[in-house]
Amino acid sequence: MTTSVTERSSWGTRAGFLLAAVGSAVGLGNMWRFSYVAAEGGGAAFVLLYLLFVALIGIPLMTAEFVVGRLAKVSPIRALTGLAGPAWRPLGVLYVVAGVGILSYYGVIAGWTVRYAIDGFRGAIPENTAAYFGLVGTGWPAVAAFVPFLALTVAIVVGGVKRGLERTAVLLMPLLFALLVALAIWAATLSGGGRGYGYYLRPQLAELLNPAVITSAAGQAFFSLSLGMGALMTYASYLRSEENLGFEAAAVAVADFAVAFLSGLVIFPIIFHFGLGPAIGLGGAISDNTVGTLFIALPAGFRTLGAVGDVVSGAFFVMLLLAALTSAISLLEVPVAAAIDAWGWTRTRAALTFGGVTLLAGLPSAFSLEFLDAANKFVGDFLLMVGGFFTALLVGYRILPQADAELARGLSHRGARRAWAVFVRYVVPPVLLVVLVFLAGAAIGAIRTLLGVW
Ligand code: PHE
Repeated sequence: MTTSVTERSSWGTRAGFLLAAVGSAVGLGNMWRFSYVAAEGGGAAFVLLYLLFVALIGIPLMTAEFVVGRLAKVSPIRALTGLAGPAWRPLGVLYVVAGVGILSYYGVIAGWTVRYAIDGFRGAIPENTAAYFGLVGTGWPAVAAFVPFLALTVAIVVGGVKRGLERTAVLLMPLLFALLVALAIWAATLSGGGRGYGYYLRPQLAELLNPAVITSAAGQAFFSLSLGMGALMTYASYLRSEENLGFEAAAVAVADFAVAFLSGLVIFPIIFHFGLGPAIGLGGAISDNTVGTLFIALPAGFRTLGAVGDVVSGAFFVMLLLAALTSAISLLEVPVAAAIDAWGWTRTRAALTFGGVTLLAGLPSAFSLEFLDAANKFVGDFLLMVGGFFTALLVGYRILPQADAELARGLSHRGARRAWAVFVRYVVPPVLLVVLVFLAGAAIGAIRTLLGVW
Protein backbone atom coordinates (compact mmCIF):
# COMPACT_ATOMS: atom_id res chain seq x y z
CA MET A 1 0.00 0.00 0.00
CA THR A 2 1.27 3.47 -0.72
CA THR A 3 1.46 6.00 2.03
CA SER A 4 -1.26 8.57 1.73
CA VAL A 5 -1.72 11.76 3.65
CA THR A 6 -4.16 10.13 6.04
CA GLU A 7 -1.58 7.54 7.07
CA ARG A 8 1.06 10.17 7.60
CA SER A 9 3.00 9.76 10.80
CA SER A 10 2.25 12.03 13.72
CA TRP A 11 3.45 12.83 17.22
CA GLY A 12 2.41 10.49 19.99
CA THR A 13 1.72 13.19 22.54
CA ARG A 14 1.49 16.93 22.77
CA ALA A 15 4.51 16.97 25.08
CA GLY A 16 6.36 14.96 22.46
CA PHE A 17 5.82 17.65 19.84
CA LEU A 18 6.75 20.40 22.26
CA LEU A 19 9.95 18.68 23.40
CA ALA A 20 10.95 17.95 19.82
CA ALA A 21 10.42 21.60 18.88
CA VAL A 22 12.41 22.71 21.93
CA GLY A 23 15.03 20.13 20.95
CA SER A 24 15.29 21.73 17.53
CA ALA A 25 15.62 25.20 18.97
CA VAL A 26 18.01 24.36 21.77
CA GLY A 27 21.33 23.57 20.18
CA LEU A 28 24.88 24.68 19.64
CA GLY A 29 23.38 28.10 18.99
CA ASN A 30 22.31 28.51 22.60
CA MET A 31 25.40 27.10 24.14
CA TRP A 32 28.45 28.61 22.61
CA ARG A 33 27.15 31.08 20.05
CA PHE A 34 24.89 32.83 22.51
CA SER A 35 27.62 33.36 25.07
CA TYR A 36 30.17 34.81 22.74
CA VAL A 37 27.83 37.05 20.83
CA ALA A 38 26.40 38.19 24.16
CA ALA A 39 29.90 39.03 25.31
CA GLU A 40 30.64 40.92 22.10
CA GLY A 41 27.41 42.82 22.33
CA GLY A 42 27.93 44.22 25.80
CA GLY A 43 26.34 41.51 27.93
CA ALA A 44 23.00 42.61 29.28
CA ALA A 45 22.34 45.08 26.47
CA PHE A 46 22.60 42.26 23.98
CA VAL A 47 20.39 40.00 26.08
CA LEU A 48 17.76 42.72 26.16
CA LEU A 49 17.82 43.21 22.39
CA TYR A 50 17.78 39.49 21.90
CA LEU A 51 14.66 39.19 24.06
CA LEU A 52 13.04 41.95 22.05
CA PHE A 53 13.66 40.10 18.77
CA VAL A 54 12.45 36.84 20.24
CA ALA A 55 9.20 38.49 21.29
CA LEU A 56 8.54 40.76 18.31
CA ILE A 57 9.83 38.59 15.48
CA GLY A 58 10.48 35.14 16.83
CA ILE A 59 7.18 34.22 18.43
CA PRO A 60 4.94 35.60 15.64
CA LEU A 61 7.05 33.97 12.94
CA MET A 62 7.27 30.66 14.76
CA THR A 63 3.50 30.74 15.15
CA ALA A 64 3.25 31.35 11.41
CA GLU A 65 5.48 28.35 10.64
CA PHE A 66 3.46 26.17 13.00
CA VAL A 67 0.21 27.32 11.40
CA VAL A 68 1.38 26.60 7.85
CA GLY A 69 2.65 23.17 8.88
CA ARG A 70 -0.49 22.05 10.67
CA LEU A 71 -2.70 23.57 7.99
CA ALA A 72 -0.97 21.83 5.08
CA LYS A 73 0.03 18.59 6.84
CA VAL A 74 2.68 17.97 4.19
CA SER A 75 6.36 18.80 3.91
CA PRO A 76 7.26 22.45 3.32
CA ILE A 77 7.73 22.54 -0.47
CA ARG A 78 4.38 20.91 -1.07
CA ALA A 79 2.82 22.92 1.72
CA LEU A 80 3.82 26.22 0.14
CA THR A 81 2.87 25.33 -3.42
CA GLY A 82 -0.36 23.68 -2.28
CA LEU A 83 -1.43 26.69 -0.25
CA ALA A 84 -0.15 29.53 -2.38
CA GLY A 85 0.75 28.23 -5.82
CA PRO A 86 3.89 27.23 -7.73
CA ALA A 87 5.41 30.70 -7.44
CA TRP A 88 6.26 29.81 -3.84
CA ARG A 89 8.24 26.69 -4.69
CA PRO A 90 11.61 28.53 -4.58
CA LEU A 91 10.96 29.38 -0.94
CA GLY A 92 10.46 25.70 -0.16
CA VAL A 93 13.62 24.86 -2.07
CA LEU A 94 15.43 27.54 -0.08
CA TYR A 95 14.34 25.79 3.14
CA VAL A 96 15.81 22.51 1.92
CA VAL A 97 19.06 24.14 0.79
CA ALA A 98 19.37 25.99 4.09
CA GLY A 99 18.71 22.77 6.03
CA VAL A 100 21.45 20.86 4.25
CA GLY A 101 23.70 23.92 4.28
CA ILE A 102 23.43 24.43 8.02
CA LEU A 103 23.76 20.75 8.85
CA SER A 104 26.89 20.53 6.72
CA TYR A 105 28.91 22.74 9.08
CA TYR A 106 26.79 22.23 12.18
CA GLY A 107 27.65 18.53 11.97
CA VAL A 108 31.35 19.37 11.87
CA ILE A 109 31.06 21.37 15.09
CA ALA A 110 28.96 18.59 16.60
CA GLY A 111 31.77 16.24 15.61
CA TRP A 112 34.13 18.31 17.76
CA THR A 113 31.80 17.79 20.71
CA VAL A 114 31.93 14.01 20.16
CA ARG A 115 35.69 14.03 20.15
CA TYR A 116 35.94 16.39 23.12
CA ALA A 117 33.42 14.43 25.19
CA ILE A 118 35.40 11.22 24.73
CA ASP A 119 38.81 12.79 25.25
CA GLY A 120 37.47 14.91 28.11
CA PHE A 121 36.29 11.93 30.13
CA ARG A 122 39.51 10.08 29.35
CA GLY A 123 41.55 13.02 30.53
CA ALA A 124 43.20 12.96 27.14
CA ILE A 125 42.96 16.64 26.23
CA PRO A 126 46.55 17.90 26.41
CA GLU A 127 47.73 21.06 28.08
CA ASN A 128 48.13 23.00 24.88
CA THR A 129 44.45 23.08 23.98
CA ALA A 130 44.97 25.41 21.05
CA ALA A 131 47.34 22.96 19.41
CA TYR A 132 44.94 20.14 20.24
CA PHE A 133 42.08 22.00 18.60
CA GLY A 134 44.29 22.61 15.60
CA LEU A 135 44.87 18.87 15.38
CA VAL A 136 41.33 17.57 15.85
CA GLY A 137 39.24 20.55 14.70
CA THR A 138 40.06 20.33 11.01
CA GLY A 139 41.12 17.79 8.44
CA TRP A 140 40.61 14.05 8.61
CA PRO A 141 40.26 13.89 12.41
CA ALA A 142 37.33 16.32 12.04
CA VAL A 143 35.82 14.17 9.31
CA ALA A 144 36.27 11.09 11.48
CA ALA A 145 34.13 12.71 14.20
CA PHE A 146 31.66 14.32 11.80
CA VAL A 147 30.77 11.00 10.16
CA PRO A 148 29.59 9.13 13.29
CA PHE A 149 27.58 12.16 14.36
CA LEU A 150 25.91 12.32 10.98
CA ALA A 151 25.32 8.56 11.00
CA LEU A 152 23.56 8.84 14.36
CA THR A 153 21.43 11.70 13.03
CA VAL A 154 20.49 9.66 9.98
CA ALA A 155 19.66 6.61 12.13
CA ILE A 156 17.29 8.64 14.30
CA VAL A 157 15.57 10.21 11.32
CA VAL A 158 15.18 6.76 9.74
CA GLY A 159 13.37 5.77 12.95
CA GLY A 160 10.55 8.13 12.02
CA VAL A 161 8.55 10.75 13.84
CA LYS A 162 7.40 8.81 16.89
CA ARG A 163 10.17 6.30 17.36
CA GLY A 164 13.01 8.50 16.15
CA LEU A 165 12.40 12.20 16.60
CA GLU A 166 9.99 12.14 19.50
CA ARG A 167 11.65 9.46 21.56
CA THR A 168 15.06 11.08 21.21
CA ALA A 169 13.73 14.46 22.35
CA VAL A 170 11.77 13.02 25.25
CA LEU A 171 14.85 11.15 26.49
CA LEU A 172 17.52 13.74 25.82
CA MET A 173 15.98 17.10 26.64
CA PRO A 174 15.46 16.40 30.36
CA LEU A 175 18.98 14.95 30.54
CA LEU A 176 20.40 18.03 28.86
CA PHE A 177 18.56 20.30 31.24
CA ALA A 178 19.76 18.36 34.29
CA LEU A 179 23.37 18.52 33.08
CA LEU A 180 23.07 22.22 32.42
CA VAL A 181 21.69 22.98 35.88
CA ALA A 182 24.36 20.81 37.50
CA LEU A 183 27.07 22.66 35.58
CA ALA A 184 25.59 26.04 36.50
CA ILE A 185 25.64 25.08 40.18
CA TRP A 186 29.23 23.89 39.89
CA ALA A 187 30.20 27.10 38.11
CA ALA A 188 28.64 29.13 40.92
CA THR A 189 31.12 27.63 43.36
CA LEU A 190 34.13 28.92 41.43
CA SER A 191 36.04 31.78 42.99
CA GLY A 192 36.11 34.93 40.91
CA GLY A 193 32.96 33.85 39.14
CA GLY A 194 31.20 36.97 40.39
CA ARG A 195 33.07 39.07 37.87
CA GLY A 196 31.84 36.71 35.20
CA TYR A 197 28.23 37.27 36.19
CA GLY A 198 28.98 40.97 36.31
CA TYR A 199 30.31 40.98 32.79
CA TYR A 200 27.44 38.90 31.52
CA LEU A 201 24.68 40.81 33.23
CA ARG A 202 26.02 44.35 33.45
CA PRO A 203 24.14 46.53 31.03
CA GLN A 204 26.24 48.65 28.70
CA LEU A 205 23.32 50.62 27.46
CA ALA A 206 25.21 52.45 24.72
CA GLU A 207 25.31 49.14 22.88
CA LEU A 208 21.52 49.15 22.57
CA LEU A 209 21.82 51.53 19.64
CA ASN A 210 24.81 49.92 17.99
CA PRO A 211 23.63 48.53 14.60
CA ALA A 212 26.17 45.71 14.72
CA VAL A 213 24.80 44.57 18.06
CA ILE A 214 21.22 44.90 16.87
CA THR A 215 21.80 42.78 13.78
CA SER A 216 23.75 40.18 15.68
CA ALA A 217 20.93 39.94 18.25
CA ALA A 218 18.44 39.47 15.41
CA GLY A 219 20.61 36.82 13.75
CA GLN A 220 21.09 35.01 17.01
CA ALA A 221 17.35 35.01 17.74
CA PHE A 222 16.65 33.57 14.30
CA PHE A 223 19.26 30.86 14.38
CA SER A 224 18.56 29.87 17.93
CA LEU A 225 14.81 29.57 17.39
CA SER A 226 15.31 27.43 14.26
CA LEU A 227 13.33 29.90 12.17
CA GLY A 228 13.32 30.57 8.45
CA MET A 229 13.99 27.11 7.03
CA GLY A 230 10.84 25.11 7.63
CA ALA A 231 12.14 22.88 10.44
CA LEU A 232 9.38 23.84 12.82
CA MET A 233 6.90 23.95 9.94
CA THR A 234 7.76 20.33 9.19
CA TYR A 235 7.41 19.38 12.84
CA ALA A 236 3.98 21.05 13.01
CA SER A 237 2.89 19.15 9.91
CA TYR A 238 2.88 16.01 12.07
CA LEU A 239 0.34 17.52 14.47
CA ARG A 240 -3.15 16.16 14.59
CA SER A 241 -4.52 17.76 17.71
CA GLU A 242 -5.91 21.23 18.24
CA GLU A 243 -3.34 22.87 20.44
CA ASN A 244 -2.96 26.59 20.75
CA LEU A 245 -0.09 27.21 18.35
CA GLY A 246 0.59 30.70 19.65
CA PHE A 247 1.06 29.30 23.10
CA GLU A 248 3.30 26.50 21.84
CA ALA A 249 5.50 29.01 20.03
CA ALA A 250 5.80 31.11 23.17
CA ALA A 251 6.67 28.02 25.20
CA VAL A 252 9.42 27.01 22.78
CA ALA A 253 10.82 30.55 22.80
CA VAL A 254 10.84 30.73 26.60
CA ALA A 255 12.53 27.33 26.92
CA ASP A 256 15.09 28.28 24.30
CA PHE A 257 15.88 31.53 26.04
CA ALA A 258 16.10 29.82 29.43
CA VAL A 259 18.70 27.39 28.11
CA ALA A 260 20.70 30.14 26.45
CA PHE A 261 20.63 32.21 29.61
CA LEU A 262 21.64 29.27 31.79
CA SER A 263 24.50 28.48 29.43
CA GLY A 264 25.77 31.99 30.01
CA LEU A 265 25.61 31.33 33.74
CA VAL A 266 27.84 28.31 33.17
CA ILE A 267 30.31 29.80 30.76
CA PHE A 268 31.02 33.29 32.13
CA PRO A 269 32.02 32.30 35.68
CA ILE A 270 34.27 29.61 34.19
CA ILE A 271 35.91 32.10 31.87
CA PHE A 272 36.59 34.57 34.63
CA HIS A 273 37.65 32.00 37.20
CA PHE A 274 40.30 30.62 34.88
CA GLY A 275 41.23 34.02 33.46
CA LEU A 276 40.27 32.95 29.97
CA GLY A 277 38.83 36.30 28.92
CA PRO A 278 41.53 37.21 26.41
CA ALA A 279 41.34 33.74 24.85
CA ILE A 280 37.77 34.29 23.79
CA GLY A 281 38.23 37.91 22.89
CA LEU A 282 36.50 39.41 25.91
CA GLY A 283 37.09 43.01 26.84
CA GLY A 284 38.87 43.97 23.69
CA ALA A 285 39.13 43.26 20.03
CA ILE A 286 36.99 40.35 19.01
CA SER A 287 38.85 37.89 16.92
CA ASP A 288 37.30 37.25 13.54
CA ASN A 289 37.30 33.56 13.93
CA THR A 290 35.35 32.82 17.06
CA VAL A 291 34.07 29.41 16.00
CA GLY A 292 36.72 27.40 17.78
CA THR A 293 37.42 29.58 20.77
CA LEU A 294 35.27 27.91 23.39
CA PHE A 295 36.74 24.59 22.38
CA ILE A 296 40.14 26.02 23.15
CA ALA A 297 39.38 28.12 26.22
CA LEU A 298 37.12 25.89 28.29
CA PRO A 299 39.18 22.68 28.22
CA ALA A 300 42.22 24.74 29.21
CA GLY A 301 40.36 25.68 32.38
CA PHE A 302 38.94 22.25 33.07
CA ARG A 303 42.40 20.72 32.75
CA THR A 304 43.68 22.56 35.78
CA LEU A 305 41.20 20.71 38.00
CA GLY A 306 42.60 17.24 37.53
CA ALA A 307 40.18 14.32 37.77
CA VAL A 308 37.21 16.56 38.64
CA GLY A 309 38.02 18.61 35.59
CA ASP A 310 37.88 15.53 33.39
CA VAL A 311 34.38 14.72 34.59
CA VAL A 312 33.18 18.30 34.22
CA SER A 313 34.78 18.58 30.81
CA GLY A 314 33.22 15.31 29.63
CA ALA A 315 29.81 16.32 30.99
CA PHE A 316 30.01 19.73 29.36
CA PHE A 317 30.74 18.34 25.92
CA VAL A 318 28.16 15.57 26.28
CA MET A 319 25.63 18.29 27.00
CA LEU A 320 26.68 20.18 23.87
CA LEU A 321 26.46 16.96 21.90
CA LEU A 322 22.91 16.21 23.07
CA ALA A 323 21.83 19.73 22.20
CA ALA A 324 23.41 19.46 18.76
CA LEU A 325 21.82 16.09 18.05
CA THR A 326 18.20 17.12 18.60
CA SER A 327 18.79 20.17 16.38
CA ALA A 328 20.53 18.17 13.69
CA ILE A 329 17.63 15.77 13.34
CA SER A 330 15.28 18.69 12.74
CA LEU A 331 17.63 20.02 10.06
CA LEU A 332 17.76 16.67 8.28
CA GLU A 333 14.03 16.11 8.62
CA VAL A 334 13.27 18.99 6.23
CA PRO A 335 14.91 17.53 3.09
CA VAL A 336 13.85 14.04 4.12
CA ALA A 337 10.19 14.97 4.46
CA ALA A 338 10.39 16.86 1.15
CA ALA A 339 11.81 13.84 -0.68
CA ILE A 340 9.24 11.48 0.84
CA ASP A 341 6.41 13.76 -0.27
CA ALA A 342 7.77 14.80 -3.64
CA TRP A 343 9.29 11.60 -4.95
CA GLY A 344 7.60 8.94 -2.84
CA TRP A 345 10.96 7.84 -1.43
CA THR A 346 11.09 5.70 1.65
CA ARG A 347 12.27 7.42 4.79
CA THR A 348 15.38 5.27 4.85
CA ARG A 349 16.35 6.11 1.31
CA ALA A 350 15.72 9.83 1.85
CA ALA A 351 17.67 9.97 5.11
CA LEU A 352 20.64 8.06 3.67
CA THR A 353 20.71 10.15 0.51
CA PHE A 354 20.56 13.49 2.26
CA GLY A 355 22.96 12.26 4.92
CA GLY A 356 25.39 11.56 2.08
CA VAL A 357 24.77 14.92 0.46
CA THR A 358 25.36 16.62 3.81
CA LEU A 359 28.60 14.74 4.29
CA LEU A 360 29.92 15.92 0.93
CA ALA A 361 28.70 19.46 1.52
CA GLY A 362 30.38 19.44 4.93
CA LEU A 363 33.84 18.40 3.77
CA PRO A 364 35.01 21.96 2.98
CA SER A 365 33.94 23.04 6.49
CA ALA A 366 35.76 20.09 7.98
CA PHE A 367 38.94 21.11 6.21
CA SER A 368 38.75 24.87 6.62
CA LEU A 369 37.62 26.85 9.65
CA GLU A 370 37.41 29.88 7.43
CA PHE A 371 34.90 28.11 5.20
CA LEU A 372 32.92 26.93 8.20
CA ASP A 373 32.76 30.43 9.61
CA ALA A 374 31.63 31.88 6.28
CA ALA A 375 29.00 29.18 5.83
CA ASN A 376 27.70 29.96 9.29
CA LYS A 377 27.45 33.65 8.43
CA PHE A 378 25.89 33.19 5.03
CA VAL A 379 23.47 30.31 5.62
CA GLY A 380 23.01 30.55 9.38
CA ASP A 381 22.40 34.30 9.49
CA PHE A 382 21.52 35.59 6.07
CA LEU A 383 19.61 32.78 4.33
CA LEU A 384 17.52 32.05 7.40
CA MET A 385 16.39 35.64 7.52
CA VAL A 386 15.63 35.67 3.82
CA GLY A 387 13.53 32.56 4.40
CA GLY A 388 11.79 34.16 7.37
CA PHE A 389 11.09 37.34 5.45
CA PHE A 390 9.31 35.53 2.62
CA THR A 391 7.53 33.21 5.01
CA ALA A 392 6.07 36.25 6.75
CA LEU A 393 5.00 37.71 3.40
CA LEU A 394 3.34 34.46 2.42
CA VAL A 395 1.40 34.10 5.64
CA GLY A 396 0.65 37.78 6.13
CA TYR A 397 -0.36 38.70 2.60
CA ARG A 398 -1.15 35.57 0.67
CA ILE A 399 -2.96 33.11 2.94
CA LEU A 400 -3.90 35.14 5.99
CA PRO A 401 -7.61 34.16 6.17
CA GLN A 402 -6.79 30.44 6.01
CA ALA A 403 -3.94 30.86 8.43
CA ASP A 404 -6.14 32.76 10.83
CA ALA A 405 -8.78 30.04 10.67
CA GLU A 406 -6.13 27.42 11.38
CA LEU A 407 -4.77 29.37 14.31
CA ALA A 408 -8.33 29.69 15.61
CA ARG A 409 -8.34 25.94 16.13
CA GLY A 410 -6.86 26.19 19.59
CA LEU A 411 -6.67 29.95 19.92
CA SER A 412 -10.21 31.29 20.05
CA HIS A 413 -9.27 34.72 21.37
CA ARG A 414 -9.89 36.98 18.41
CA GLY A 415 -7.85 39.91 19.69
CA ALA A 416 -4.80 37.72 20.14
CA ARG A 417 -5.12 36.47 16.58
CA ARG A 418 -5.53 39.97 15.28
CA ALA A 419 -2.41 41.10 17.13
CA TRP A 420 -0.54 38.17 15.60
CA ALA A 421 -1.70 39.15 12.10
CA VAL A 422 -0.52 42.72 12.68
CA PHE A 423 2.92 41.45 13.68
CA VAL A 424 3.19 39.07 10.74
CA ARG A 425 2.19 41.78 8.29
CA TYR A 426 3.56 45.02 9.63
CA VAL A 427 6.34 44.23 12.07
CA VAL A 428 8.19 41.11 10.94
CA PRO A 429 8.76 41.96 7.24
CA PRO A 430 9.96 45.56 7.65
CA VAL A 431 12.22 44.77 10.59
CA LEU A 432 13.73 41.81 8.76
CA LEU A 433 14.22 43.89 5.65
CA VAL A 434 16.21 46.48 7.57
CA VAL A 435 18.33 43.81 9.23
CA LEU A 436 18.90 42.11 5.87
CA VAL A 437 20.12 45.34 4.33
CA PHE A 438 22.59 45.74 7.19
CA LEU A 439 23.71 42.16 6.80
CA ALA A 440 24.06 42.26 3.02
CA GLY A 441 27.67 43.41 3.15
CA ALA A 442 28.66 40.63 5.51
CA ALA A 443 26.76 38.12 3.38
CA ILE A 444 28.60 39.15 0.24
CA GLY A 445 31.90 38.93 2.08
CA ALA A 446 30.95 35.44 3.24
CA ILE A 447 30.12 34.33 -0.30
CA ARG A 448 33.51 35.61 -1.46
CA THR A 449 35.22 33.60 1.26
CA LEU A 450 33.19 30.50 0.39
CA LEU A 451 34.11 30.77 -3.27
CA GLY A 452 37.71 31.66 -2.49
CA VAL A 453 38.27 28.67 -0.24
CA TRP A 454 36.44 26.44 -2.65
N1 PHE B 1 18.33 26.30 16.63
C1 PHE B 1 19.47 25.48 16.47
C2 PHE B 1 20.54 25.90 17.46
O1 PHE B 1 20.39 26.83 18.18
C3 PHE B 1 20.02 25.51 15.08
C4 PHE B 1 18.98 25.33 14.01
C5 PHE B 1 18.76 26.35 13.10
C6 PHE B 1 18.22 24.19 13.93
C7 PHE B 1 17.78 26.24 12.13
C8 PHE B 1 17.23 24.05 12.98
C9 PHE B 1 17.03 25.09 12.08
O2 PHE B 1 21.58 25.33 17.53
